[in-house]
Amino acid sequence: MKRIFLGVTGASGAAYAARALAALTDAGCDVGLCVSHAGAHVISHELQGGGRMRPADPDAVVARFVADHASGAGSVTVLGLDDMAAPFASGSSLAPAALICPCSGATLGHIASGAAQNLIHRCADVMLKERRTLVLMTRETPLNLIHIDNMATVTRAGAVVMPAAPGFYNLPASVDDLVDFMVGKALDHLGVAHRLLARWGSEDEA
Ligand SMILES: Cc1cc2nc3c(=O)[nH]c(=O)nc-3n(C[C@H](O)[C@H](O)[C@H](O)COP(=O)(O)O)c2cc1C
Repeated sequence: MKRIFLGVTGASGAAYAARALAALTDAGCDVGLCVSHAGAHVISHELQGGGRMRPADPDAVVARFVADHASGAGSVTVLGLDDMAAPFASGSSLAPAALICPCSGATLGHIASGAAQNLIHRCADVMLKERRTLVLMTRETPLNLIHIDNMATVTRAGAVVMPAAPGFYNLPASVDDLVDFMVGKALDHLGVAHRLLARWGSEDEA
């Protein structure tokens, strides 16, 4: 069973995180899930009808997120944001890949500077130092020079920066199709099989 770290931060696009959790567990992955405080806020607002205020009980938001979206043959372990003793915080744990989805400009900045202040930053740091796969599905627009410089820095360090910018060449019919496109691209980089997107020039439909 492939171990994957899924970090969810406070950028808009909680639907991407939901689809990623569903697809990873569908594929039988053992997912270590860590949600930042702002990530729980955005999940509550965008997926759970929680409104604009910060959720009173972020743990309940995360528990509902897992219940609503994890499926299939995989498993999910919810990791505390401050749990620097989690296996994913150490290079000696052999988790091969991490996806931060969506990835805020703030978390991108922490990763680019090496200032790991929570488990999401630390796991990203570990993936880079161990030369493993780190995919950052960033979401901000427009970008300032700090974002662009930080993207260049993490790319030089080995990360894959994947802005949430779905293509339209597969003629999407719904928002779900756009979400699937992005998550499919991320899973390709994580080495996880899926049927979320049609392959250009292939008869193999999604
Ligand atoms: C509803 C909502 C949407 C947000 N969308 C974005 C976004 O798309 N991109 C971004 O970089 N920050 C966004 N933010 C701001 C981040 O949540 C904020 O910078 C936070 O400190 C990020 O912390 P984190 O990276 O630990 O999750 C949003 C905040 C809220 C409340």
